[in-house]
Amino acid sequence: DEFDLHICCMGAGYVGGPTMAVIAAKCPKVRVCVVDLSQKQIDAWNSPDLPIYEPGLPEVVAQCLGKNLFFSTDIDAEIKKADIVFISVNTPTKTMGIGAGRAANVKNCELCARKIAEVSESDKIVVEKSTVPVRTAQAVRRVLDCNERGLKFQVLSNPEFLAEGTAIPDLMSPDRVLIGGVQTPEGIAAAEKLAGVYANWVPREQILTTNLWSSELSKLVANAFLAQRVSSINSISALCEATGANVSEVSRCVGMDDRIGKRFLNSSIGFGGSCFQKDILNLVYLCETYGLQECADYWNQVILMNNYQKKRFSEKMVSSMFNTVTGKKIAILGFAFKKDTGDVRETPSMFVVRDLVMEQAKVHVYDPQVKREDMWVEMNYTCNLSEETHPGVEAAVTTSTSAYDACDGAHALAVLTEWDEFKELDYQKIYQKMAKPAFVFDGRNILDHEALRKIGFEVHAIGKPDPNKFSDL
Ligand code: NAD
Ligand code: UDX
Repeated sequence: DEFDLHICCMGAGYVGGPTMAVIAAKCPKVRVCVVDLSQKQIDAWNSPDLPIYEPGLPEVVAQCLGKNLFFSTDIDAEIKKADIVFISVNTPTKTMGIGAGRAANVKNCELCARKIAEVSESDKIVVEKSTVPVRTAQAVRRVLDCNERGLKFQVLSNPEFLAEGTAIPDLMSPDRVLIGGVQTPEGIAAAEKLAGVYANWVPREQILTTNLWSSELSKLVANAFLAQRVSSINSISALCEATGANVSEVSRCVGMDDRIGKRFLNSSIGFGGSCFQKDILNLVYLCETYGLQECADYWNQVILMNNYQKKRFSEKMVSSMFNTVTGKKIAILGFAFKKDTGDVRETPSMFVVRDLVMEQAKVHVYDPQVKREDMWVEMNYTCNLSEETHPGVEAAVTTSTSAYDACDGAHALAVLTEWDEFKELDYQKIYQKMAKPAFVFDGRNILDHEALRKIGFEVHAIGKPDPNKFSDL
């Protein structure tokens, strides 16, 4: 046919979809097909209503769909056609069995390898795009080697570093592309072939090739270091609240040291998302498996600090409101785990909502992108909170269609996701319709606290000095 190369990607999720759309956009001579077990997911990719919200994504998909970008459930046929098969399936934390609550479940990756071994009729390069425990490539390779046609597969590790909400710019100009391969002539040639795809738009010096294990491990380490920065600044936010220091000032000052760097030092109600906790737990479990208990404890502390930060926030809400929120309406602005995404996996907002519901508050949630159904799926999966486990709980949580509705008559509003639109709200108007005293809890430090206090709000923020507590302000 008219194409130089055929790529198949198994898994049409947050990573597979955007990554393959950008490869298709940047490489017109490459045919890319993303396959998935879920018909619903594939239908959504083929419709104008994409399954994920990601700024810039609809434009990229529209540009390529039906030309060199396809979404299909015909997994066998698409694997057969491909020169390169990406495995981009979910690898969640195990919920039962050995390593439950910590180890990453690589079941889906192994199933993909078995499928490739079963249906392939020619040699292929198999690329681990999913985040996996170090040495998973060995398992993938052994499964592939068991094929009955004597086919030769090369396994590469090519972890993805995109962040949700900025996936398209991250993919268009990545800090680096990492490709790990076996250090044999065949392995090096396979890595070179994959590097050639990225070289269509990524400068060569940013395409890094390493051995397989360094590549697999680097992904876990990168996320652990990023999350560690958030937990570090969050630990300092608690100390700021106790002493009258201002965490934004501390963060700015510390970050101006080039060796530390200014990004990723925003204190918050804690980090969420599908990656940080899962990947650190994965790292912790790996350390333990290799008998490195001190290393495991060191990284596990990043998670313990994050749990503390989430709990500290909801406890502060309750204690500030005279130790009771029973029967009080509380507006929650933002449920997604960060702005510019509808993703709610491990979102810190969920824990605040859960704690408030347990205190019998009437919680009204507004988020510009989150669907009520997705909110409950996540609350059930992660917090074991559902109508079945807690009858009446669904009625205790209202989903509002605007921030103003959510705040109407509320005793407090809490900003839990840093959506830009929350900075632009008419807080004078909101104040008038709230119960008094009207509380603001800014879990992202995005609002103008001085202006809010002038209106009459009692404002509590993360790591900020409280004027009611410190008279020298
Ligand atoms: P996701 O849940 O959004 O998508 C995974 C998709 O794979 C689902 O649609 C599922 O139906 C499909 N799938 C599962 N098993 C399959 C099989 N055997 N055959 C075909 N399809 C199958 O997950 P995601 O967020 O895209 O993450 C995928 C991987 O990438 C994970 O390992 C994750 O850790 C990693 N990662 C995620 C991000 C992120 O920001 N979400 C960033 C970097 C890396
Ligand atoms: C992360 C990594 O950044 C990305 O490189 C990797 O590929 C996948 O995991 P993601 O989880 O999509 O990306 O979002 P990220 O921007 O890292 O934010 C994660 C969480 O940390 C969010 O809840 C965010 O609000 C929080 N965060 C981030 C802070 O609380 N403070 C910060 O300074 C930065």
